[in-house]
Amino acid sequence: MLRRTRTTKTLAKRMDLQYFAKPHPLRRWRLWLSVGIPVIALVWIVSQQATGEKAYSSGPLASSHAVFGKKCEVCHESTLGFFSKQVSDKKCLACHDAPAHHEEKASFTPQCGACHVEHKGSLRLASTQDAGCTQCHADLGEHTKGTTQYVKDVADFDNQHPEFAALRPGMPDPGKVKLNHYKHLVPNLAGPHGPVQLDCHDCHRPGGMEGTWPYAGAELKMVSATMESQGKSADRAYMAPIRYTEQCEGCHVKDLQFDKRFDEAVPHDRPDIVQAFLYREYNEYFSTHPGALSEPIAPERMLPGKVYPPPPHNRQEWIALQVMLSDRILWGKGCKLCHTMIQPDDPQQLPTVAKSNIPVRWLPHAEFDHDAHRLLKCDACHVKSRNSQDTAEVLVPGIDSCRTCHKQAGPQADAANGRCSECHQYHDWTKEKPVKGNYTITGLRGGGKSGE
Ligand code: HEC
Ligand code: HEC
Ligand code: HEC
Ligand code: HEC
Ligand code: HEC
Ligand code: HEC
Ligand code: HEC
Ligand code: HEC
Ligand code: HEC
Ligand code: HEC
Repeated sequence: MLRRTRTTKTLAKRMDLQYFAKPHPLRRWRLWLSVGIPVIALVWIVSQQATGEKAYSSGPLASSHAVFGKKCEVCHESTLGFFSKQVSDKKCLACHDAPAHHEEKASFTPQCGACHVEHKGSLRLASTQDAGCTQCHADLGEHTKGTTQYVKDVADFDNQHPEFAALRPGMPDPGKVKLNHYKHLVPNLAGPHGPVQLDCHDCHRPGGMEGTWPYAGAELKMVSATMESQGKSADRAYMAPIRYTEQCEGCHVKDLQFDKRFDEAVPHDRPDIVQAFLYREYNEYFSTHPGALSEPIAPERMLPGKVYPPPPHNRQEWIALQVMLSDRILWGKGCKLCHTMIQPDDPQQLPTVAKSNIPVRWLPHAEFDHDAHRLLKCDACHVKSRNSQDTAEVLVPGIDSCRTCHKQAGPQADAANGRCSECHQYHDWTKEKPVKGNYTITGLRGGGKSGE
């Protein structure tokens, strides 16, 4: 066998010296590629134009916006009539007014797109990533003009989130109506018709729930118009506010009874209104009971350690004495069972009732929803409630309780969602202004010019 000898000469002989004269097959392809592909692309783009500018899209829109999928310009700017990747807040604001929170105190206002990420498919846009919040809250000092009362380094929920303000040491229960939870939850409590066993839902139910209160007053009246309303919410997220007439009267009406000679109790109202009621009642009693002046004072109306005026001589003196005795029983015992009574320096003046102040929202800077947690027993979260003997004790759960289920990684950590947006609002919806619709149907769906 001959050894293969490779010299430059033999190698040169293998070359086709005419190679430049006829097109190489690859060259032919090059031609096709450089001319044909743009033509195909053009045809494709033109055909896509019929369905809008979807060709440029970087992914499907969120389901609530999918209806605008053919009209990129409802969100995107256009430069000289051509599609631009730029999205300005102005475009979003044409359909939504979504005022940013604490705009006057924040060092800047992030763009809508920084939190509401589009083109990721059927995500819920409002379920935003934490980075949208922590860009300010991980170092709030840097991003607040002036000072702030809020904790400055909230970087995540799992490890870098403060205990809720209402549960920090030294924070009082602002409520002023006395209630001993423990005493009311014992077995065989004296109910209106014999012994009962109370449960949480006898006094606490979500707002807006149908049904009557088992221990409401005989004639469930609306709260007196003279009392300041705490604003009843139809929202099931929070518990309905406590009302004397709805949750207490059935058992405690006896504490508003002032005299055995009368069946009824005084109205549950301000002391001046209660006193006007007493004057009316005794005036009428005197008129209908000729022997009233000589009736002895019942022993239970004589409170120990009190000074009593001489026996009355006429209608006026008799009424004044009866009202005084009733006042002492009510202000000193009946009302005082539940209220702090404030006596002005002048003993002749009526006391006032300390504002009840029972909070409707304990954690006003966050959202909570009892309905979403209805699978749990009440005292799974409100662990101290059954044994609480002191109104001032705060029974709302702290952050550790939430952290057992809510984690930042959410479902990936077999946990409930722990993103900031699960529990907080960003927008100050109280400042929301109505948006005036400005589009036509064809303007949004194609087949015509967009409305401006
Ligand atoms: C509901 C509003 C909305 C509509 C409708 C919309 N987009 Fe977008 N688009 C956005 C937002 C928000 C961004 C992010 C902008 C930013 O990063 O500032 C974006 C970004 C883009 C980007 C850039 C992506 C990137 O990674 O930088 C492209 C490309 C794009 N959109 C194409 C389209 C096309 C094509 C259409 C029409 C078929 C369309 N978009 C319709 C809201 C929209
Ligand atoms: C042409 C009108 C229009 C424009 C422009 C528009 N949206 Fe919407 N958006 C809607 C409608 C309609 C809905 C669904 C109904 C609703 O929730 O009001 C919606 C829903 C939303 C929601 C709640 C739904 C969810 O999935 O959580 C967010 C958040 C939102 N839009 C943000 C934006 C942002 C940010 C922009 C600008 C990039 C924008 N929108 C531009 C009309 C518009
Ligand atoms: C541009 C900066 C900025 C961004 C982004 C921001 N915040 Fe704030 N936030 C502030 C400032 C400033 C305050 C304090 C205002 C003050 O001191 O009165 C504040 C206060 C708060 C408070 C306490 C007061 C209140 O209004 O309830 C909460 C809770 C809060 N932010 C949550 C969030 C969440 C959740 C997000 C993300 C969805 C977010 N913030 C995004 C600047 C920002
Ligand atoms: C599981 C629910 C939950 C999650 C998740 C959550 N928070 Fe909170 N956050 C609360 C509650 C409840 C409060 C107490 C509100 C109050 O005191 O009125 C609070 C309070 C705050 C406050 C006020 C602190 C203060 O000084 O009193 C800020 C700021 C805040 N959160 C930011 C965030 C940020 C940022 C994230 C995401 C990294 C986040 N939160 C995640 C429930 C949550
Ligand atoms: C007899 C009616 C009654 C019953 C029964 C009752 N509560 Fe209350 N609860 C009240 C009143 C009145 C208040 C407001 C006064 C106060 O601050 O304690 C209150 C307040 C609360 C609060 C607000 C936080 C706080 O510290 O004040 C929680 C939480 C609460 N109750 C949970 C429960 C739970 C859980 C049960 C069942 C184990 C229960 N309650 C049973 C009447 C009742
Ligand atoms: C089912 C009947 C029942 C209902 C409903 C009820 N209570 Fe009572 N309450 C009692 C009884 C019985 C006592 C006396 C218990 C004792 O002294 O051990 C009592 C005692 C009290 C006391 C005095 C506690 C103490 O420490 O001595 C206060 C204050 C009180 N209740 C407030 C309320 C308030 C406020 C409501 C409505 C939110 C209410 N109660 C609803 C039956 C009831
Ligand atoms: C069994 C407990 C109980 C007794 C007894 C009681 N109250 Fe009340 N009172 C309440 C509760 C609970 C509230 C708060 C909810 C409401 O407005 O019904 C309240 C609220 C009030 C308020 C409104 C205070 C405010 O600013 O929020 C006045 C005024 C008042 N009571 C007067 C009286 C007077 C006067 C008496 C005695 C004649 C009396 N109450 C006896 C339980 C009681
Ligand atoms: C997952 C924990 C959890 C469970 C379970 C739970 N609560 Fe609450 N509860 C809370 C939190 C958090 C608040 C504070 C909400 C606020 O006021 O901002 C609260 C507040 C309350 C309040 C004060 C008024 C209000 O709505 O803010 C009452 C009363 C109350 N809960 C009763 C109950 C009763 C009754 C049950 C059972 C039916 C129950 N809770 C179950 C966590 C829980
Ligand atoms: C037993 C586990 C558990 C505990 C404890 C718990 N959560 Fe939840 N939470 C859930 C589940 C499950 C959901 C529903 C998740 C969903 O819909 O994605 C939820 C939903 C929520 C939501 C959204 C409600 C809605 O539908 O808008 C908020 C806000 C929330 N939790 C706050 C809290 C706070 C604050 C605490 C502590 C006081 C707490 N949770 C304790 C399991 C829990
Ligand atoms: C710092 C993050 C952030 C920025 C910036 C932001 N949003 Fe939001 N947005 C949220 C969060 C969190 C929610 C859900 C809680 C709430 O309602 O505040 C939300 C809710 C909404 C909703 C209501 C969704 C629903 O459930 O109905 C609309 C609409 C909306 N945003 C539009 C906008 C528009 C328009 C802009 C720009 C002007 C914008 N957002 C800027 C975080 C942000």
